[in-house]
Amino acid sequence: MPGRTIFTGDNLDILRGINSECVDLIYLDPPFNSNRTYAAPLDSEARGAEFDDVWTLSDMKAEWIDEIEYRLPALFHLINGAKLSHGESMAGYLTFMSVRLLELHRVLKATGSIYLHCDDTAVHYLKSVMDAVFGIQNFQVGIFWKRTSAHNDSRGFGRVTDTILFYSRQSRINTDAIRVPLDADYVEQFYRFEDERGKYQLGDLTAPRRGTGETGQLWRGFDPNRTGRQWNAPLRGRYAAWVDANVIPGYRDIASPLGRLDALDAAGMIYYPPDQGMPRLKRYLAENPGQVPTNQWNDIRPIGPRARERTGWRTQKPVALLERIINASSNPGDLVLDPFCGCATACIAAEKLGREWIGIDRLPQAAEVLAARARRELQIPMNGDDERPWEDWTPLVLQEPPRRSDLASLTPANPQSDKELLYACQNRRCAGCEYELPLHVLTIDHITPRSRGGQDSIGNLQLMCHTCNAIKGNRGMEYLRQQLVIRGIVSV
Ligand SMILES: C[S@@+](CC[C@H](N)C(=O)[O-])C[C@H]1O[C@@H](n2cnc3c(N)ncnc32)[C@H](O)[C@@H]1O
Ligand SMILES: [Zn+2]
Repeated sequence: MPGRTIFTGDNLDILRGINSECVDLIYLDPPFNSNRTYAAPLDSEARGAEFDDVWTLSDMKAEWIDEIEYRLPALFHLINGAKLSHGESMAGYLTFMSVRLLELHRVLKATGSIYLHCDDTAVHYLKSVMDAVFGIQNFQVGIFWKRTSAHNDSRGFGRVTDTILFYSRQSRINTDAIRVPLDADYVEQFYRFEDERGKYQLGDLTAPRRGTGETGQLWRGFDPNRTGRQWNAPLRGRYAAWVDANVIPGYRDIASPLGRLDALDAAGMIYYPPDQGMPRLKRYLAENPGQVPTNQWNDIRPIGPRARERTGWRTQKPVALLERIINASSNPGDLVLDPFCGCATACIAAEKLGREWIGIDRLPQAAEVLAARARRELQIPMNGDDERPWEDWTPLVLQEPPRRSDLASLTPANPQSDKELLYACQNRRCAGCEYELPLHVLTIDHITPRSRGGQDSIGNLQLMCHTCNAIKGNRGMEYLRQQLVIRGIVSV
């Protein structure tokens, strides 16, 4: 799948054409079921960009319902529950989202991560849908992003946050890539001292157990052995490296423990308590790499009226928000997908961070805005500008859905027409369980497996559902039929 591509069209058609398990990170910011229409101002870069966030039961297309019921029965029941408890509009919205989330699950790598951005209109239902599709055990955290600073809602609690649901099989994120300065409260509580190098806290210069050699000797009149301890001026670790690089060049080359104490003292890095207690090490705030953000993100500001990144797209998100997500859950070179990309914020952030990306939006303006943003925010000239050749950075703008190349390594003519032919021959049914199913949920299977000499020719191919395919594996049809009976999927 080529990166740096923006598709303009319905994301469902496009997702169906993307190979399975090829995406590292998905961010999606779909319509929220807000019952509103969003239109960009006429004088903005995004003029003409307009989308409805209004849902009805007509969004529950019969073929989608069939597909959901077939692929994930729990999800089907969940949507029916929402229809009863909330109403038809919610059921329509969840149906629209569910078929797309099933495809997103298919294209995401097993090691990948997905972040779903929403607000509290539907977050509770979306959480259940995500649990069903991505697995409740893979739910990492709900992030609350403070999207606006003030809200004058005199009649109730002001709604200032969006929720971002984060799922991944791996709980680890790239913490060092997203650290932020320590909380002011924390600094105030723990960094209570200050000198000309800035704020610091006190650290130990001794370690447990009496010292026998140099580490047990008297230094500046202080005896560590008196309290059963020994000198331990840091030699390894982050703080020693910082001291070496910023305060005492060559510090880590001083082998003698007392020599290191002398050097620290000469540099003013030792604190002598007024009560004559043991000397302490000054640990400066300047060395602290900051903290990993909690799940409450108040530090990413909404886009200001005059911000360079502002496009006029009503639902535009800040690049900094996407940068944090991309840094946390992907590495340079990884593929990032945003299936509701709007004015391409995720694409811009991914490009800045050296990731490959695919953006999809129904509106053709998405591609135009991307080009304008790239020129302005990434300083990338587009066609017609001549400072740098256009070929340096050529995003693909495509309207046609891609074609999956992983369906089957078919040598004959054209996999898609073979599929359609087989589908017609099989009366739209799975060759195993014989359930009538939509074409896109059926995959090509070799009747006699290739591992047993089966050919790629059309005579040896059939279409089967995922369940039958998984049961059959690389065995024959006889085995599959027996298993379907044993499991009660078909009767004898
Ligand atoms: C909330 S906005 C996304 C904003 C985006 N995060 C940004 O920073 O600009 C949702 C977007 O989804 C698009 N959209 C809605 N339904 C779609 C569909 N079926 N396929 C593709 N895009 C769709 C809308 O055109 C809209 O731009
Ligand atoms: Zn089947």
